[in-house]
Amino acid sequence: MNMSTRKQLEITRVTPHCGARVAGVDLSQPLDGSMVEKLLEGLAEHCVLFFEEQAMTPVQQKALGEHFGSLHVHPAWPRLVDGHPEVMEIYSDETTTRIAGEDWHSDVSCDPEPPMGTILQMLEVPPAGGDTLFANMSAVFESLSPSMQQFLEGLNAVHDGELVYRDRYDGMSDEPQTYPRSEHPVVCVHPVSGRKVLFVNRIFTSRIVELGETESDALLRLLFQRIEQPEFQCRYQWRPGSVVFWDNRCAQHHALWDYYPHRRRGHRVTIRGQAPVSACGGQQQLDNNSQ
Ligand code: SIN
Repeated sequence: MNMSTRKQLEITRVTPHCGARVAGVDLSQPLDGSMVEKLLEGLAEHCVLFFEEQAMTPVQQKALGEHFGSLHVHPAWPRLVDGHPEVMEIYSDETTTRIAGEDWHSDVSCDPEPPMGTILQMLEVPPAGGDTLFANMSAVFESLSPSMQQFLEGLNAVHDGELVYRDRYDGMSDEPQTYPRSEHPVVCVHPVSGRKVLFVNRIFTSRIVELGETESDALLRLLFQRIEQPEFQCRYQWRPGSVVFWDNRCAQHHALWDYYPHRRRGHRVTIRGQAPVSACGGQQQLDNNSQ
């Protein structure tokens, strides 16, 4: 048994729907099975976990991520930590024209098997600002009327990487067929909590498969507005050494860029997931156009 598992784990909710602070674990050390289980349960309940005063090398951060699954390599991100293709550098300064995640989304939902979660360690923060917002997609779904819930459960949506990656980042081909693009159920079931989750997001979701274009646009607008209501959210103020672990299957997040021209830098590992499972039973047939 190592030091991290001998400490008393404390998980403290920060808002009714979203986010919890976690104390009593050193993430740089190997975790035992019971700690991994508790963190997975905490993640499913709170959607996002916040850890303070941590310090991990890229190797330790990868080892942490691997407790929860195999690591994902991003299809487009140009800033990778040398020698560690699974570790993305999140970086912005006075030369930056676009930052990662500057609108509501779940990570890489254009993949046929979107990541289950993401672990971001912040190394440098601006003097003020640079917070990240998180929102609980089960709470959003449960806030809808029963009729709307039922209607949504029969629908599928296109998640298109081209919307996000074309002309945005170096290293991504301009050939349209090379962009990851998938269909996922609009309402999925979270594999740990069993709660239904609204699974459409502003940056990747282009249309609802079963609806005409104007109907699809109107419905997505309505859902995106609901997703962005503050009562489903929490807001995290980073410090150097903060680590945040979010569950892509039930949370969306939005990185605020209110600190230009200051510098903000962190390391992110992303954990591979499985194809989202429809809330109306059975696994959806995926339009697996990912290249
Ligand atoms: C991201 O979407 O991975 C970026 C999150 C952040 O920089 O806070």
